[in-house]
Amino acid sequence: MDSDGVKAQRISSKRLIGKVAVITGGARGIGAATAKLFAENGAHVIIADILDELGAKLADFIGGRYVHCDVSKEYDVEQAIQCALNWKGRIDIMFNNAGIAGLGGSITNHKMDEMRALVDINLYGIVHGIKHAARAMIEGKIGGAIICSSSSAAIMGGLASHAYTLSKEAILGLARSTACELGVHGIRVNCISPHGVPSDMLISGYRKFLGNADLKPEDVCKIVGERGSLIKGRCGSFEDVAQAVLFLASNDAGFITGHNLVIDGGYTSACSQMSFMYQG
Ligand SMILES: NC(=O)c1ccc[n+]([C@@H]2O[C@H](COP(=O)([O-])OP(=O)(O)OC[C@H]3O[C@@H](n4cnc5c(N)ncnc54)[C@H](O)[C@@H]3O)[C@@H](O)[C@H]2O)c1
Repeated sequence: MDSDGVKAQRISSKRLIGKVAVITGGARGIGAATAKLFAENGAHVIIADILDELGAKLADFIGGRYVHCDVSKEYDVEQAIQCALNWKGRIDIMFNNAGIAGLGGSITNHKMDEMRALVDINLYGIVHGIKHAARAMIEGKIGGAIICSSSSAAIMGGLASHAYTLSKEAILGLARSTACELGVHGIRVNCISPHGVPSDMLISGYRKFLGNADLKPEDVCKIVGERGSLIKGRCGSFEDVAQAVLFLASNDAGFITGHNLVIDGGYTSACSQMSFMYQG
């Protein structure tokens, strides 16, 4: 194949050419990996986060835009979407990804103000994102894809704090009901449920729960690979999740809505402690 042919093949393999995407919590971790993958696939990306320095640097690197946005504030989210409209006149993809782990501890001692503060970010942040992205998409009359970050903690108990668990479960219900309403406009609403990806959020949680401030990403990966995955020795990666989001955002997932794509190495599907029954 000549060089033009190779170039044409590379261009045609891009899955989001010309699409405009807003990613909340896009400054680092899963959101940042997705921002890079979206840009590599031809999308114009707006990173919306509270980590201004990191977010602006990444936006520069991928030829995107950065906007300061605290997702718990409806006005900030509205402005992030407005940024897409001002820049490119449209929004095709909304990735509602920002989230925090919150404090652990017993339900008997739960501080209600802390729980509400978490729900403001993890759940109402997503409500704000769906609401304003859907408004703009309906107005644009070209449909769209909305993807929300839930978690393996929404599927089974015992994987995260009570506040985090309830927020992530509620996201699944919200995605289903909004998928039901918005399908008529060609807008798909889906969730992803990652598990065991050694991001800053997961590492700091493990450090706290295991009382080991020196724990490194590879240590977390080892624990997940040994105890938290059916695929032994394998934890989740940023790339695993970003690829799942890319799929849901792309036309390849054109008939998929109201779905929760679980990226957990099978952990929430089967208990491997009795797998001896399959031996011999
Ligand atoms: N890492 C995992 O294993 C895992 C598992 C399940 C779900 N998730 C979910 O994936 C998403 C991304 O998390 P991550 O693991 O990449 O962690 P992370 O801490 O690296 O990234 C979270 C991002 O959200 C941003 N953020 C936090 N509060 C915000 C706010 N109020 N407004 C705007 N941005 C805010 C942070 O600045 C950061 O950039 C979260 O919703 C998390 O709950 C992660």
